[in-house]
Amino acid sequence: MFVTLEGPEGSGKTSQGDALGTVLSAYVPILLTREPGGTELGERVRDILLGFGGPALDPVTQLLLLSAARAQHVREVLRPAIAEGRSVLCVRYADSSRAYQGGGDGVAEAVIEAAIAIATDGLEPDLTIYLDLDPVVGLRRRAMAGTEGAQEGWNRFDARELAFHQRVREAYKRLARACPGRVVTVDADRPFEAVRADILEIVLSRIAVIVRGGAS
Ligand code: TYD
Repeated sequence: MFVTLEGPEGSGKTSQGDALGTVLSAYVPILLTREPGGTELGERVRDILLGFGGPALDPVTQLLLLSAARAQHVREVLRPAIAEGRSVLCVRYADSSRAYQGGGDGVAEAVIEAAIAIATDGLEPDLTIYLDLDPVVGLRRRAMAGTEGAQEGWNRFDARELAFHQRVREAYKRLARACPGRVVTVDADRPFEAVRADILEIVLSRIAVIVRGGAS
C-alpha cells in the first residue's frame, strides 16, 4: 500500500507520519520517506528550493526541479520498495505540486499534470491523508517550532504571503472534493492524539478493504 500525507505548513505531517509508521511497522514492513527528499538528489533539490540562500526560482523551474527529484524518488526508492512488498508512507508527493505550484503560484494545470505524469510514471497513492488546517494557525505553529530547532525552522515557502498559503489550502480542498476515493480529509486543528487516532482508523480501514478485496 502506498500512502501519502499532505497538507499545509505546520499541519503535523511529519510527526503524524512518524507516529503512523511506528504503529504500522509492527505489522508490515514500512518505508517512511518524504518529498522533496528521499534520495541524494531529492535532498539536494530540497536545499536549493527551501534554503533562503538559494537562487531565485520561477514557479515553473520549481515544478521541474521538484519533478526531477520525484522522478528519481519513484524509480530509485518508491517502485523498488513497493515491488519488494513493502508499504510506503510518503510525506508530500504529487499533490503538493498541484497545491503549491498549481494553486499557490498559478502554474497551468496542464503543465502541472504533464510534469507529474512524467515524474510519477503513473505511480499514484492508494490513499492520501490531507491534514486540513487554516494557514494562520499552521504558520503560527511553524514559527513557534522554528524557535526550538533549525530542523523544523522557517523555509522559503513558509515565508510566502498569507494569500499564497490560502490558495494552497483551497487547491487541496478542491483536490479532496475531486478525488473522494483517494483523498481523505482530517481536521488538523485538534490535539495531536485526536488527529493521530483518526489517521490510524482511516489507514486501518483501508487496509481491511484491500485485504477483503484480495489485493496486495
Ligand atoms: P517542509 O519543510 O517539508 O514543509 P512541511 O513541513 O510543511 O511539509 O518543506 C517542503 C516545502 O516544499 C513545503 O513548503 C511545500 C514545498 N513543496 C512544493 O511546493 N511542491 C512540491 O511538489 C513539494 C513536494 C513540496
